[in-house]
This record gives sequence, C-alpha cells and structure tokens, in this order.
Amino acid sequence: MSDFAELKLEGKTYQLPIVVGSENEKAIDIRKLRAETNYVTLDSGYGNTGACKSEITFIDGEKGILRYRGYPIEQLAEKSTFVETAYLLMNSKLPNQVELNDFREMLTRHSLIHEDMLHFYDGYPSTAHPMAILSSMVCSLSSYYPEWLDPHDNAQVAQLMPRVLSKIRTIAAYSYKKSIGQPVIYPKNSLDYCANFLYMMFAVPSEPYEVDEEMVKTLNMLLILHADHEQNCSTSTVRMVGSSDANLFASIAAGILALWGPKHGGANQEVMEMLEEINRNGGDVKKAIAMAKDKNSGFRLMGFGHRVYKNYDPRAKVIKKACDQILAKMNRKDPLLEIAKRLEEAALSDPYFVDRKLYPNVDFYSGVIYRAMGIPTPMFTVMFALGRLPGWLAQWMEMHRDGEGRIDRPRQIYTGESERIYVPMNQRT
Ligand code: ACO
Repeated sequence: MSDFAELKLEGKTYQLPIVVGSENEKAIDIRKLRAETNYVTLDSGYGNTGACKSEITFIDGEKGILRYRGYPIEQLAEKSTFVETAYLLMNSKLPNQVELNDFREMLTRHSLIHEDMLHFYDGYPSTAHPMAILSSMVCSLSSYYPEWLDPHDNAQVAQLMPRVLSKIRTIAAYSYKKSIGQPVIYPKNSLDYCANFLYMMFAVPSEPYEVDEEMVKTLNMLLILHADHEQNCSTSTVRMVGSSDANLFASIAAGILALWGPKHGGANQEVMEMLEEINRNGGDVKKAIAMAKDKNSGFRLMGFGHRVYKNYDPRAKVIKKACDQILAKMNRKDPLLEIAKRLEEAALSDPYFVDRKLYPNVDFYSGVIYRAMGIPTPMFTVMFALGRLPGWLAQWMEMHRDGEGRIDRPRQIYTGESERIYVPMNQRT
C-alpha cells in the first residue's frame, strides 16, 4: 500500500500521508492540508475525523469488538474488578498484587471530601438533578488543591488522580443522601471501592448495614463496562477542555456535563422512563416502535443506535445476560425487563432498525439492573460517570503526555452574511 493518498485540487496534486493504526485502521493525515491548499475538511459530528492517536481503547463497530489496552471487555467484565480495570486504563498494564494493593490503599485513604463541601449541598433544591450537583462539586474540588493544578507537572497530576477517582464516589453517594433527606454516611476504610459506594448510598446511622456481595460484584461489572469508550462525546470534551491547559477538575466536570445529554449517558435515565411509560400504558411496545420510526414524532427509541456500533454493542450483550442472572439471584421479577426484551425483539425484526443497523446500546439494559439494586432513576447517569471516570483520566493524561501540545480548535465554513454597513435604529425596518 502507498504511504500517501493523492488529492487533486484546482489542477494541482497533493500527497497526504497515510497513517495506519495497530489494528490496521487507516487514516489520511490532513494536518498540513490548509497550509498547503487553503482548504479545510468539513465533517460535522466528526464521524470521519480521527482527533488523536490513542493506545487506550480499541473498538471495531462493525464486528462489535471492544478492548481496553488490548483486553476484551467480556474478559474484564467477568474476571476483573473496577479498581483493577481503572489501574489498567490509567497505567497501560494490569497491576501486580503489590501495585493493586497500593492503588486500593490510595483510593481508600482519599475517600473523604473537605467537610466544608457538605454545606454546598444545602444550596440545592431537593429537585436538583444529581448530575448538576456532581459536575459542580467536582469543579469545586479544584479550590481545595490550588498547589496541584498544573497539568504539565506529572508529580502534581499523580497526587490528583486517586483523589478525584475516590472522592467522586463520595460526592455521588452524598448527593443521593441529601436528595432523600437522610444524613450522609462517611466512607468506611475496611470496604473496597464498590462496597464502600453501596455502603454510603444505602446505610443509615440508626442500624447496621451489611453490604451484599452479589451487589458488589454486579456494580464492579457495570462500572467496568462503562470505564472507557475511546473518543465519545464526553471523552472528547475532557480532551478538548484539557487541551486549553484547564486543570483536571475543570476538564472532568466538563466531561460530566457532556455525558448528561440524553443522546449520550443521559440515555440510561430516558430508557427507564420510556419503559415505565410503556408499562403504565399497558405494555404495548408497538406504539413506541411506530413513534420511533415517525420522523415527525421527535421520539427516538432510547438505548438504541450508536455512532460506532453497527452491530450489537458488546457491553449490552454482557448486561442483558447479567440482567436475567441477577434478577433470578435476587429473586425478583421486573416487568420492565420483559418490556425491554419485547421492545428489542420488535425493533430487531423491523426493517427500519435492521436497515439502519440500530441495535441496543450499553444504556438499554443497564437501568434494569440499577433499579434492581435500589439505585433511583435520576442517579443512573451519575453511575455512568463513576464508571467512565478512569477512561477520562487516562485520556486526559494521554492527551497531555503524547499530544502535540496544541489547543483543540476546529475550523468552520462560514455561511453567513458578507460585510454589511451598520444601520442606525431609526432606519431599520
Ligand atoms: N430511534 C429511532 N431512529 C434512530 C435511532 C433511535 N434510537 N437512532 C438513530 N436513528 C435513525 C436516525 O433517525 C437516522 O435515520 P435516517 O437515516 O432516516 O435519517 C439514522 O438512524 C442514523 O441516525 P443518526 O442520528 O444519524 O446517528 P448518529 O450516529 O448521529 O447517532 C445516537 C447516534 C445519538 C446514539 C442515536 O442512535 C440516538 O439518538 N440513540 C438514542 C439515544 C441513545 O441511546 N444514546 C446512547 C448512545 S450510547 C452512549 O452514549 C453511552
């Protein structure tokens, strides 16, 4: 294969370097295009734009493959823990026992937030969405570490990484406690990452609370499945904000806000609300399918479709299987799981969804499990953020270490008015 692509423009031929990734993904390097030709490329939605080179996560959307640092998602979901997977994403390798113990210890030591931050919660109305609270709390954390905010100082960054990873879990659990009017429960150092989160969510000071091992296992699995997904909307946001040399907390807070949108992480909440609505109306999935196909309805089948996957999302496969097992173990039946399955079956046998290669994505079944665990619907996207954090951290570090140090700054094609003369008020129509 040639090392160059040829581009013919206005009678001239230009050679553009070809870049090939380790899984044989090919790209045309256009970095010098504008300087040499005065043209830019137009790619709204970035569907054809490789914004960076990355060693973290590989996706083959046609085959339904997802790997973190080379390890298939199915193996990690079955065998790893969230903390181990976070280490893998952030350090490029699976930890040995000593490294894992040290990492765990760091997360345990840094789980408390500054006591003054507890007062922040009092300013929110009880109806505040936990994603609004989470993003502002994470951004506020920057005020407590003014001496460690230089993104180019690796020693400072190393101090912040375990702190943000550990504290986000505390912030999330506290926001739930505040929303239901219960006292916050401080973390317990004898518990590991996921067990501690469940403890802070569900324990009350007035009685003992035993963390359910099955729930811990399930939470580990769910967080692993969400831990990274290469250059999605929130991760690209984290990288873009970080490229301005904004501090780590500001970059992560921006990622949380991007995740909140219903076309991205916010879809898990919307899926649950859609399933509840179908259930309330008698469980007929045909109406939802018809509405999703009707472009005038403004309705989309939430939890369906993906920019990259044109096959079954491998994460959704794992979660769907887990749904049955977990509900059986908990001795629970959930009518919403039955509706979800019927909805999927109806969609996957409908030419509209088949032709467009629209399959269930990670958000379609995750809410059913969170619901079984007792996590309320408005917290679903927060759970996604907890899971995605190691990916954001790894991508932010990679951007600073391997990037070219340039601020992200796309171009545009201007389609507005040409120069006009200012019109005084009394002459305007
Ligand atoms: N329901 C109905 N139609 C859909 C859906 C859906 N969920 N998703 C895509 N389509 C249709 C579009 O209307 C479009 O049809 P057309 O070709 O006739 O115009 C076609 O499929 C392609 O859709 P696009 O919007 O161009 O696809 P894009 O890659 O931009 O969007 C997205 C991907 C945002 C995920 C989209 O599928 C969607 O909105 N899904 C529902 C929300 C959702 O589940 N989001 C979570 C994604 S996973 C994640 O972020 C964790």
